Amino acid sequence: MTTTTSAAATTVAATVTPFDLSTGLSAAREPLRRTLSAMTSMYADAQAAQDWIEREDVLVYEFYDMGVPQTSGDVAYGTSIVYPGKVGDEYFMTKGHFHTVLDTGEIYFCLSGEGYMLMENPEGDVQWAQFVPGQAVYVPRRYAHRSINTSSSEPLITFFGFPGHAGHDYGTIEQKGFRKLCIDVEGRPTFVDNPKWAG
Ligand SMILES: [Fe+2]
Repeated sequence: MTTTTSAAATTVAATVTPFDLSTGLSAAREPLRRTLSAMTSMYADAQAAQDWIEREDVLVYEFYDMGVPQTSGDVAYGTSIVYPGKVGDEYFMTKGHFHTVLDTGEIYFCLSGEGYMLMENPEGDVQWAQFVPGQAVYVPRRYAHRSINTSSSEPLITFFGFPGHAGHDYGTIEQKGFRKLCIDVEGRPTFVDNPKWAG
């Protein structure tokens, strides 16, 4: 039940949205999907990405935009599902982004799977935090963020929430990349300098 006043008439009503705990998907809305061809140049080994696409333009991740108003008083939310896989030695990951309103943070709660949140700010500070089911990762204001799935078999499923007015700046990361990559070194996730970083 929702009680609204005239001042609240433009806000979202109380809403219950189901998300499947095993898949991360919601029957209530169509997810946004990103296949490898949408992010070929983001991987260090672009040839390996191209080889894979010629076999199959594999689904790398999907996520939800629940259509919340883009105001500072609202909270955008949804799930993100990054599938297992590697391009060469580099684990499947999201494109990653800064928020257009840089001074906005975000919270990710890991529902299942394993991986990392890679973060960096414009000044070059780089951090990464492990995703563990039942644990939340807080992304500070001003940090670009990218989810990375380091499992060989399970999807990485997280639930996120951020201020509705934050917006997404994908272009900066598309142009420059992140300063670090996460690669498989003898079976262990390892962060190394990104040879293609263009800062
Ligand atoms: Fe974000």
